[in-house]
Amino acid sequence: MVATAAQHVSALQHRFRDEVQAALRGAIVDSDSGFFSLLRYHLGWEEADGKPAHVVTGKGLRPILCLTACEVAGGDWQDALPAAAALELVHNFSLIHDDIQDRDDRRWGRPTLWTVHGEAKAIAAGNAMRVIADHTLMSLVNSGMPTALVSDVAVELTGRYLEMIEGQYMDMSFEGSDNVTVEQYLDMVGRKTGALIESAMYMGALVATSDRQQAQGFGACGRRLGLAFQIRDDYLGIWGDPSATGKAVGADIRRKKKSMPVVHLFEHAAPADRAWLNEAYAKEGEVGGEDVERILELLDRLGTPTHVQEAATAEANGAMEVVDGLGLTESARETVQAMAEFFVTREK
Ligand code: IPE
Ligand code: IPE
Ligand code: MG
Ligand code: MG
Repeated sequence: MVATAAQHVSALQHRFRDEVQAALRGAIVDSDSGFFSLLRYHLGWEEADGKPAHVVTGKGLRPILCLTACEVAGGDWQDALPAAAALELVHNFSLIHDDIQDRDDRRWGRPTLWTVHGEAKAIAAGNAMRVIADHTLMSLVNSGMPTALVSDVAVELTGRYLEMIEGQYMDMSFEGSDNVTVEQYLDMVGRKTGALIESAMYMGALVATSDRQQAQGFGACGRRLGLAFQIRDDYLGIWGDPSATGKAVGADIRRKKKSMPVVHLFEHAAPADRAWLNEAYAKEGEVGGEDVERILELLDRLGTPTHVQEAATAEANGAMEVVDGLGLTESARETVQAMAEFFVTREK
């Protein structure tokens, strides 16, 4: 039986989950202030009142990509575990801050950290998560990796998450603009989402091969996968099932986000609709309920869902073209192909 992309990725999730979880649990140590409870709440290990919990939270895709890249590049995936755990921590730092920045009150079907503990403490928890990621990465030296290469990996991770933070800034700035082009959108998304996924594949390949050029090839594939991933995320933010995504639908529209569907709408709306859109977006504050309804109708009328899905698929195909230059075995290629397909067909 041929496995679907979702089954293939689910098998990878099962394969790596326990060791990644153990690395994460080992990274977040305790102290007597109660501070680290905030991090454990966010990660689903505790309830808001500090009681132990086992809430299913993230998909863990960045660690999987990193460990898979390590393996398909010919390495032992266990050697890349510190990088995989660091990626998940950086990713969660970004989510904690993103939910404050986006004013989102739900993630994974539960209240976001800032709505439970307030923004100021959630900012502190996000910062701590990022510092713990930096520390975690350093344990790469324990698997015998030369310090010059560990330093290369650290420069890669921090450089890419600096780009990610910059991408978040651009995403917020675009809320106030009504003429964001597709090119500008892709530039922003390449940073906010592509950069970290790029670093996942770069670091996995570098741990395996110690070859920077080879690692850059993997990284370039990750960057395109990141674009595909975010375009699908934008799709799910409007047309996804909230019981699957665990996030509210339509929040991006209310927040005036220049997500791929909205960028498409602004570019292709008929002149009268475009004039109305400009007025709706020029109003103070969030886009109101009736205006959101009309925007949803316009999106449907323009065939935007299909267009957005095609754009995501084009990026995933672009990633596979990069993969074709990496000289992978057929089965290694199939694994990356499954990830690429999953990124653009996932429901959550
Ligand atoms: C969510 O990423 C943030 C984006 C970059 C779109 P994920 O979908 O990978 O987050 P998890 O799986 O909930 O952790
Ligand atoms: C994801 O941003 C990018 C980062 C968190 C760096 P979004 O705001 O698009 O993602 P969701 O939909 O809230 O997960
Ligand atoms: Mg955001
Ligand atoms: Mg968000």
